[in-house]
Amino acid sequence: MSSAFRVDFRDRSTRARLGRLETPHGRVETPVFMPVGTQGTVKGLAPRELEEIGISMLLANTYHLMLRPGAEVVRSAGGLHRFMGWEHPILTDSGGFQVFSLAELRRVTDEGVAFRSHLDGSPQLLTPERSMEVQWALGSDVAVVLDELVGFGADRQQVERAVERTASWARRSKAAWEKLGGRGAGGRLLFGIVQGGVYPDLRRRSLELTLPIAPDGLAIGGLSVGEPKAAMYEVLADLEPQLPEELPRYVMGVGSPDVLVEAVALGYDMFDCVLPTRLARHGAIWTSEGRVIIRDAPFATDLRPLDEQCDCYACRYFSRAYVRHLFKAGEMLGMRLASVHNLRFLTRLMESIRQAVREGRLRELREAIRQKYGTQTK
Ligand code: GUN
Ligand code: ZN
Repeated sequence: MSSAFRVDFRDRSTRARLGRLETPHGRVETPVFMPVGTQGTVKGLAPRELEEIGISMLLANTYHLMLRPGAEVVRSAGGLHRFMGWEHPILTDSGGFQVFSLAELRRVTDEGVAFRSHLDGSPQLLTPERSMEVQWALGSDVAVVLDELVGFGADRQQVERAVERTASWARRSKAAWEKLGGRGAGGRLLFGIVQGGVYPDLRRRSLELTLPIAPDGLAIGGLSVGEPKAAMYEVLADLEPQLPEELPRYVMGVGSPDVLVEAVALGYDMFDCVLPTRLARHGAIWTSEGRVIIRDAPFATDLRPLDEQCDCYACRYFSRAYVRHLFKAGEMLGMRLASVHNLRFLTRLMESIRQAVREGRLRELREAIRQKYGTQTK
């Protein structure tokens, strides 16, 4: 079992826990939110800005980076950390999700996923072995196994098949990972992925099959794919008592304030999502009063910061009126400032969640967050 993760503290009135994950590029305090740097960049932000925001770990995508610039380019640059100038931990997704959402002419077989690149139409084959080789070449601190995912609305039989295939791909992923060097080479970690849609028994089956090949952590996949939030919470609540305490639990693809606090209270430790940066690029700003659209007319003369409670660079130096002006004028600084702010907002939210767990106040905080941000989807 993994010794890379330690649970330091357990909440008494919820399932929440505080922990630490040790990676080759340093320690990460959990619960943690990881912003997404799909192409080896968190869109619009330089690594030193991410550091200032307090980001401790990023996610990058195997699918994108293997197609462009290619794993070899990154390897020869000294790995993704050096290539992108980020010295802290990176988790890489296996491509299992992106190949299902982006690739063209996709064909899934037991071997892997054959598809055409969304960039140039070139034929590609993503197998568990290839995914591991790419993640290894990137120098990932935490790799995840290749999985098959079916959308919400898939019938039970399809989900069942995806669970079995994910398990067989996970076994191959683990074997390939170990051949590449595994834990031996500097303490890199490998997470398994639990699929199973909204079917409790299939989730259970997937967990049983995944546990033996998930030495360092468990990702929960196949969520936030169009199902109602209540269904997601049910899956997480039902699964949690069956999860080993000593493994970190990573819910893939969630990042709205209300879902984060709920998932922490349900006993989960790690999260990633494009939401804060994507919303920011559309001018949607999280504030301590709820979400605002910065292009809206009332902000034209509003000289307050984006959020009066925020300590980010955007809030320390600029007004709502100015950021609105940047958006209206199509200036790229608008998107950058909004991204800095939303990421700082979410990072502070996670800090306050950890603090609330420590002080036994998580239920109150959850209620407050639900009321302010709970109506939004995703
Ligand atoms: N990102 C969000 N959901 C998923 C999932 O189910 N699998 C993978 N590999 N990545 C994800
Ligand atoms: Zn701010």
